[in-house]
Formats: sequence, structure tokens, C-alpha cells
Amino acid sequence: MIELKNIEKVYNQGTSKEVRALRNISLTIERGEIFGVIGLSGAGKSTLIRHINMLERPSSGQVIVDGQDLTAMNEKELREVRRHIGMIFQSFNLLSSATVAENVAFPLKLVSGPERLSDEAIAARVKELLELVELSDKAEMYPAQLSGGQKQRVGIARALAGNPKILLCDEATSALDPKTTMSILKLLMTLRDKLNLTIVIITHQMEVIKECCDRVAVIDGGVISELGTSLDIFTEPKQALTKRLVSAAVRRGLPELLRHTEIVSEYHEGAKAVIELLFLGPKADAPVIVEVAQECKVAISILGGSIDHIKTEPFGLLVIEVGGSRAEIEHAIEVLTERVHKVEILGYDQRVQLADLNDAAQPAAAATASAAMAHAAPAVTVSEGE
Ligand SMILES: Nc1ncnc2c1ncn2[C@@H]1O[C@H](COP(=O)(O)OP(=O)(O)OP(=O)(O)O)[C@@H](O)[C@H]1O
Ligand SMILES: [Mg+2]
Repeated sequence: MIELKNIEKVYNQGTSKEVRALRNISLTIERGEIFGVIGLSGAGKSTLIRHINMLERPSSGQVIVDGQDLTAMNEKELREVRRHIGMIFQSFNLLSSATVAENVAFPLKLVSGPERLSDEAIAARVKELLELVELSDKAEMYPAQLSGGQKQRVGIARALAGNPKILLCDEATSALDPKTTMSILKLLMTLRDKLNLTIVIITHQMEVIKECCDRVAVIDGGVISELGTSLDIFTEPKQALTKRLVSAAVRRGLPELLRHTEIVSEYHEGAKAVIELLFLGPKADAPVIVEVAQECKVAISILGGSIDHIKTEPFGLLVIEVGGSRAEIEHAIEVLTERVHKVEILGYDQRVQLADLNDAAQPAAAATASAAMAHAAPAVTVSEGE
């Protein structure tokens, strides 16, 4: 378990300029967790992660790892602790003049004293590590002969050489294409399970968080501005910055179709309500739209929809228009609120007149929420009668 307690970090940049890079950060990361850290450039993410292995000392506060107070240790004791906290980087940091096997052996050869392994034991350990990251056939190659993904696998093998309990990843997949990123993330998840590793990941790739992080902290100006499960951060972000960051991966709000339509915030006679529905977990495949259309006697058109996942949990977003009298629309919203995970009224479509209500939105009668979700991202059923 990693505990950061009231961490403050002040850098002196020049004679008078002080930067408060971290402000009163308190955070607990559980054993076996994959924990994500996101935020804008300069927010303090690298500074934060470098406190976990005490590459940076806090100006005040405590860093406690598995019950040991690292802030109370001297440099010699810290060197020993750091051997058991692995770290990987965006730039891989491999020795270009050494082979893959030599790169992985490097930290083991730095060990002195009684813990130093024999050359045979080091060779055996390197073989084992390369098997773990599926690079056995590349042992004698040089970094320049490897792809980015393979280089990062070498970085991971080297980081794991000292049998760490913790792996810190600072933008470790940022230089990789999406497919290679996914293969590295799969490897990290496998390693977490096999070795019971705790993994802390700094990233600006929201896909990384979506794919593998259990929880996420958003850092803003040296402060944790939001902290939650990945599911909460993506489906119910609270702070403006979080909303902005996650919008890169999960598109919310008005669909393209309504971009040039005047949507107003207040109901007026004859307007249809434009509503975003969030479906999650077991509620995701109930035929909610048909039920509500029938029970509440409202006309429902589906304007846009997408299906996605956070780790293995599916979630769907559907934007609908609901037409009827004011009372009928309000009743429909009440019923929807009971049956889906979240209902958000995006506004009222003011082009629509009462006369449209009779013939609008037949497609919804045949649709179900699950069918709409099953059509996935680009599937938009438009029922613009006018
Ligand atoms: N060694 C240092 N000396 C002085 N100031 C520093 C030092 N390291 C970081 N800072 C300052 O601390 C703040 C946080 O920097 P940090 O590198 O943690 O940001 P970051 O969130 O990792 O950004 P990026 O996404 O660009 O990597 C910045 O204002 C930076 O200039
Ligand atoms: Mg950084």
C-alpha cells in the first residue's frame, strides 16, 4: 500500500521564484491496484509519482510504502527501497550500446554485497524476465533493432528485475501507436495479476485509463481536484477539467445532428425535450425506450447513441427527443430516471410545433435501448419528420 500524507513540494526556481508543485496531497493506493493520474502539462503529475520512490523529497508530509516511512530514511536506505520500486518512461531509457539481455541485467549487476546474484543466476533471471514480457527471441538484439513496443517491453523487464511490488509508469505508452499501447496495457494487467503488482500510471491517453485503471486522480495546479473509480470519472465527471479531459474519449452532449439547431434551456409550449441517457451494467439491456413511449404516451426519437466500456464494464449513451404535453414529458423523465443509470436534460428543441407530435418518432416504437446500443457508435436513427 502507498500512502501519501499531506505532501507539499516547493521548488525554488532562481532566487525569488517559488513553485508550489504539490499542495497538501493525501492519497492512498491499495496493493494490486492500477491507479491512473491525469492532468494538464505542468500540473504536477511527474512530481507526484517521483515522490512515491522518493526521487523527489517532499518539502513536508510523509510517504509511506508498505508501512515504511520513506521520508524518515537516509539516502542509503532509500537506494535499497528504490530497488523494489520499478519505473518505466516514455523514452524507454535503454542503453543503446547494450543488448536487450544486458539492459535487463543492468540493475542486477549494480547490486553489491550479499544480495548480489552470481553471473549464472543473473542470466537465469534475465531469461525468466524476457519470457515474462515475451521477448525471449530478442535477447541478443540491440535497442535500435526493436520497435517502440518491444523497447518498452525491455523497459518493463528491466523495471521488474528487482522483484518490485510497485511499478511506476510516467507516460510509458505515450510514444506508442494505439495498437501497441493496448498490447503494453494487456501486459501490465497480466503482470499485475501474476505478480500482485501495484501500478501507478501517468498518462494523457484517456484510452489508457479506460482500458485498465481501477481509480484515477485528476491533478490540477498541484492539487488533487477529483478522485474516483474510472467508471465514475468517465460517466459522471464533476469538475470542469475532468469533463474536458474525459471528453476526448467519451463524447457527451448534443449529437452532431442538433449542432445547428437552437436548443434552449427552458421548456416552452410544444417543444420536445432533448435528453441524454446513460445505461450501465444490468440496466443496460432493458427495453426502456419502448416501455416509456408506451406507458407515458410520449413520442420518442433516437438522435444518437454509442456503446463503450470502462475496463470490462459496458456503458451506453443515448440521446433522445421526447415529445408530448409538458406533463407527459415530465412523467416520461421521471420514469426514465428510475430505469436508466442517469438522465440529463440537454435542453428543449424549439423548432418543434405541437402539430408534429402526432406523426413524429415512430422509429422509437420499434427500437429498444439495447437495440440502439447494439448498433454502436455511428448508428443514429433520425426521425426528423419536418
Ligand atoms: N526540478 C525542478 N525544479 C524546479 N521546478 C520544477 C522541477 N520539476 C518540476 N518543476 C515544476 O513543477 C511543476 C510541475 O511539474 P511536473 O513535471 O510534475 O508536471 P507534469 O504534470 O508531469 O507535466 P507534463 O505533463 O508536462 O509532464 C511545473 O511548474 C514545473 O516547472
Ligand atoms: Mg510529467
